[in-house]
Amino acid sequence: MSISISENRKRFHLTDGATFSRVLAVIPDEDARLNVEELYFGPALPENAADVLEDTRQKMFSNAVPNDVTMRGAAFYLCPTAGNGDVRPAALQVQEPDGTWSTELSYEGYALLPGKPKLEGLPAAYAEQVDEAETLELLFRDRKTGLEVKLYQCVMNAYHALTSWMVVENGGDEKLVLQRCMSATVHLSGNWDMLHLHGAWAKERQVERIPNMHGTRAIGSVRGASSHQHNPFVAMMEPGADEHQGRVLGVNLVYSGSFLMEADQNEHDLTRLVAGIAPCAWTLEPDGSFTTPETVMVWSEQGLNGMSQIFHKLYRERLCRGVWRDRLRPVLCNNWEGTYFDFDEERILAIARTAAELGVELFVLDDGWFGQRNDDTTSLGDWQVNRDKLPNGIAGLSEKLHQMGLMFGLWVEPEMISPVSKLYEEHPDWCLHAPARSRTLQRHQLILDLTRRDVQDWMIDTITGVLREGSVDYVKWDMNRNFAQIGSALLQPAQQSETPHRYMLGLYRVMEAVTSALPDVLFEACASGGGRFDPGILYYMPQVWTSDDTDAVERLNIQYGTSMAYPISSMGAHVSAVPNHQVGRVTSMRFRGDVALGGNMGYELDLSRQSEADKAEIRRQVEQVKQLRRITQRGRFTRLQSPFDNRIAAWQFALEDDSEILVCLFQRYTAANPPQIYVRVRDIDESALYRDQFGREYSGAVLSKQGLRSPFGWQPEKQDQESLVLHLTRI
Ligand code: GLA
Repeated sequence: MSISISENRKRFHLTDGATFSRVLAVIPDEDARLNVEELYFGPALPENAADVLEDTRQKMFSNAVPNDVTMRGAAFYLCPTAGNGDVRPAALQVQEPDGTWSTELSYEGYALLPGKPKLEGLPAAYAEQVDEAETLELLFRDRKTGLEVKLYQCVMNAYHALTSWMVVENGGDEKLVLQRCMSATVHLSGNWDMLHLHGAWAKERQVERIPNMHGTRAIGSVRGASSHQHNPFVAMMEPGADEHQGRVLGVNLVYSGSFLMEADQNEHDLTRLVAGIAPCAWTLEPDGSFTTPETVMVWSEQGLNGMSQIFHKLYRERLCRGVWRDRLRPVLCNNWEGTYFDFDEERILAIARTAAELGVELFVLDDGWFGQRNDDTTSLGDWQVNRDKLPNGIAGLSEKLHQMGLMFGLWVEPEMISPVSKLYEEHPDWCLHAPARSRTLQRHQLILDLTRRDVQDWMIDTITGVLREGSVDYVKWDMNRNFAQIGSALLQPAQQSETPHRYMLGLYRVMEAVTSALPDVLFEACASGGGRFDPGILYYMPQVWTSDDTDAVERLNIQYGTSMAYPISSMGAHVSAVPNHQVGRVTSMRFRGDVALGGNMGYELDLSRQSEADKAEIRRQVEQVKQLRRITQRGRFTRLQSPFDNRIAAWQFALEDDSEILVCLFQRYTAANPPQIYVRVRDIDESALYRDQFGREYSGAVLSKQGLRSPFGWQPEKQDQESLVLHLTRI
C-alpha cells in the first residue's frame, strides 16, 4: 500500500516505501473549520511513524503578541488560499462576485483511487498497471461561494515519484475568477539552496545554484512557452548536498507554456514552494471546472544524480508514449546547417546518399521545402511543396530516400503564420493579436491562434495530410517565437486573459490528434533549439532538439544541465561542421562525436563534402552508436564532473546490472603542466573486474575508490579538446 490512512487521527501517509514519505493531517483551523496540513515531507518513514508525528510542525508568531494562537500563519496548508492572513505564496486565489478574494476552504473528505486518473486535456505521467500507483483525492469546499477543490496526490510507487494537481469546480450560482491556481505546494524547514536551469537561445539549461535566502526565489515564463530562459524545474538542495550525496527535492511541472515556481523562505526559516501555470485570471462559470497541470516531485538522499535517475526512468517509461518509447532511436542526418535554405532535390540526394553509405538510418529535410520559403521571411502556413526545389514533391523525395534504405523525416512549424503567405491573406484574424494594436513580429512571423477550434482543426488536417502524403517516418515539430500581443478574435473580453493557457490546451489537442493519427512516426520537438524542453512536450514527442548551439564544448554544458531532469533518450545531439556556425570553434570530429553520443546522435552538416578521413571517422562513430545506444539510451546516466566547474568534464552510463559501463571524459581546454586528475566511477560492481575495448583490465573497486586517471596529458602540439569513451565490460 502506498497510501495509508489512520481514521482516528486523520492522517494520510504517502510513501513509495523506499525514497520518500509525505504525511498529511486533517487539523481544525482556528475557526474550527477542518483543513489539511503537511506534517512531513522527506525520506521514507516506517508505517508506524505517521501516527506519532506532532500535530503541527511549528507555530509562528509574527506580531508583537507572544504565543498569539489566533495567528493563521502557522499552517502548512496543502492548499493555501490568498486573503486569509497566510501571507506566503498561495496555491489558490479566487475572486468572488463582490470583488474580494478570501476563500476559506473546509476539508470535506477523501477518496482513495487505484492507479492514476487521467488529467483532462493535459499531458501527465501515467501508470500502466494499476499497482504502479495509488492516488489520494482530497475534497475541499468554500461554503460562501460553493467552490469545490479536488486536490490529487499520486504516489507512483513503482517509479518513486509523487505527483500533485488540482481540479477546481464552481458549485455555486455565480461566476468566480481563478486568479491563481497552482498544481503543488511543498513546505521545507531549515536552509535550502535552489538549483535551477536558466538560459537563452543557444545557451539553454545552464545550471545555477542560488543559496538559501530569506524572501522569494522565483522562476517562470510569460512567453507562452516554457522557454529558453527558465525551465519549469527546480531542485531544492540542502546546502551540503552535491551531485552524489545529500538531500534534494526535485520539482518539475508537466507543462509547456507560461509558468511560475516560487520558493518563499520566511522569517522562521520555513520555505513554501508553489508550482503551477502563470496566474492568468480564468473565469469559472457555474458548473465550470478547471484542471491544473501536474507537478512531479522526487526526493533523493543521493544528491542530484539520485534525483535525475528517478526523473529519467519515470519520463522514459511512464511519460513518453507510443511505439518509439521502447525503440532504440535512429542515427539521423539533418540538412539544416549543411544547406540552410539553399537546396534542391539533387543536393539533398547527394547528402543522403553519403549518409546511407556511412550507416546513417534517417534523413531529415529541414526548413525551406514549402511555399516560397527561400529565407525565413515568408510562407509559414503554406504547407505546399516548392516544386522548383523538389520537382517530384515530398512524396517523390521520400520514395527515393526509402529506396536508399533511409527513413524520411520532415521539418514543420505548424503553430506559425508568416504575414507574407497565402494563409495570412485568407485568414488575417487567425493569429494571436490585440485589436487596433501592432502585431509584433519575431523571426518575421506571427503565432496561429490555437485557442480557436477552427484553427486547431485546420492544423490537424493540414499537417496530418502533409505527413501522410510524404510517407514520413519522423517529424521535427518546430516553434520559433514567443507571445507578444496575447489576444484572440473569438474570445469574450473577460476570457482574453485565458489566452495563454487556452493556447496550450489547443496545442495539446492538436499534438494528441496528429501523433495518434500517425502512431509509427517518431516526433522530435524543437523551439529555436530547446525553448520548449519540458515534460509536457515529452508526453507527445519523446525527443527534443536540445539547442541550436552545436559547438561540442558548449554542448557539454547544455546537455549536462538538461540531464538534471530529462533523460538522454530525449535529447537531440548533432555533430556539425567546423568552424562551428555558432561560435567559430574548431574541434576534432572525434570530440564532436563523443559529445553527441550523450544524446540522440545525428549529423548536421553536408556529409557529401567531408574529407575521406572525416567520413571514415563518421562511419566508425555510427557503428559505435549502434553498438552502444542500448546503454546510452536506456542505461542509468550519472554526471561525474561538471563542465561548469571543471576543465575536464565527465559522465557515465551503466546497464541496470552494472555489467557494462561507459565512462566519457572530455577535456574542455588544455593546460600547461596539468595536475593528475582522477575521475571516480560511480555505481560500479566493486567486487568485479572490468575490461575495456582495448583489452585493459580494471578493478571495479579501484575505479570506484581511486578513480580513472585522466588520459589527457600535456601535449602542446595538440588541440585543446580531447575526449575518451571507455567501454567497460564486467569480466
Ligand atoms: C530553428 C531550429 C533549427 C532549424 C531552423 C529552421 O531555429 O531550431 O534547428 O530547424 O529553425 O528554420
